[in-house]
Amino acid sequence: MRLLTTAAPSARMKNPSQSGLAATIDYSFIRYLEAKKTVDDRALNTHVWQALANELPAATIERPLRVLEVGAGIGTMVERLVEQQMFGHTQYTALDENAALIVELQRRLPRRIRRGKTDIRMETFIGDAPSFANRVENKHDWDLLIAHAFIDLVDLPTAVRSLLTCLQPGGLFYFTMVFDDATILQPEIDPIFDSQIERLYHLTMDQRLTQGQPSGDSQSGRHLLSCLQQERATLLAAGGSDWVVLGGPEGYPADEAFFLHFIIHTIRIALRDHPEIDPVRFSTWVAERHTQVERGKLIYIAHQLDVLGRIST
Ligand SMILES: C[S@@+](CC[C@H](N)C(=O)[O-])C[C@H]1O[C@@H](n2cnc3c(N)ncnc32)[C@H](O)[C@@H]1O
Repeated sequence: MRLLTTAAPSARMKNPSQSGLAATIDYSFIRYLEAKKTVDDRALNTHVWQALANELPAATIERPLRVLEVGAGIGTMVERLVEQQMFGHTQYTALDENAALIVELQRRLPRRIRRGKTDIRMETFIGDAPSFANRVENKHDWDLLIAHAFIDLVDLPTAVRSLLTCLQPGGLFYFTMVFDDATILQPEIDPIFDSQIERLYHLTMDQRLTQGQPSGDSQSGRHLLSCLQQERATLLAAGGSDWVVLGGPEGYPADEAFFLHFIIHTIRIALRDHPEIDPVRFSTWVAERHTQVERGKLIYIAHQLDVLGRIST
């Protein structure tokens, strides 16, 4: 499930379909991205991650690795790469169309990050990723293109084609958390109604338009693989990166209860006026899902894929 940020970054909800704590939550997108980090840490495919580490070209202070991350949000992928010491000398360009997120990224990360063998110089851009990629000065400039929890938000054939032109010949791309057709919420409330909600929710992804253009779909993971084959890219590694969130004896880890409330809130916003859904029944369903989170009982699984590949030399 991928969440767009075209709405206000934060919205305090007061709604009868939300119970207790959920009724008072400030649905901040920045907090959502922070809360998502631990979920992503668990979910990222280790085989694909290791393949990335193995394929990276050598970098020196004179010739640093050049990395472009599109849809970078508040910079949690950079933080992860630093924590895992993935890079040595690196020039890292983080781009996002949402200015508030880039401001938050700049607040969280210094312009130069030194830790162990890692030495990263950061630069940031605010703007639309495909438009950035289409500028002549950005062609064939980067060694590695990263798109984390992003590529299922854009029209795959056109966006992938333009984004890959940013890479030098033989450059690598690492596309992660690409949603693919399963939003599972347990325990069941009503199997038929639950399935209807999942189907209609996925349909909102299939029908989503951004500035009048198609933008992503609910089977982006599999579509990405075939799209990359058509672009004659070499696929080096791929694997599942499902989000799996469940509460243990101490409740949910870190801020993952908030993450789950945000997911339920997003489904509510997507489907609240849907003509095929009984609004009263849907309100009750939403309230029950929030209650399951408050009790530590909700289990959430979203099916996603990670892909590493190389463009031709
Ligand atoms: C689901 S968020 C993921 C953010 C970050 N990669 C993370 O995982 O924390 C998707 C991000 O893509 C950005 N975005 C969406 N469409 C974009 C576009 N066309 N160009 C640049 N950024 C875009 C959003 O602003 C948002 O920050």
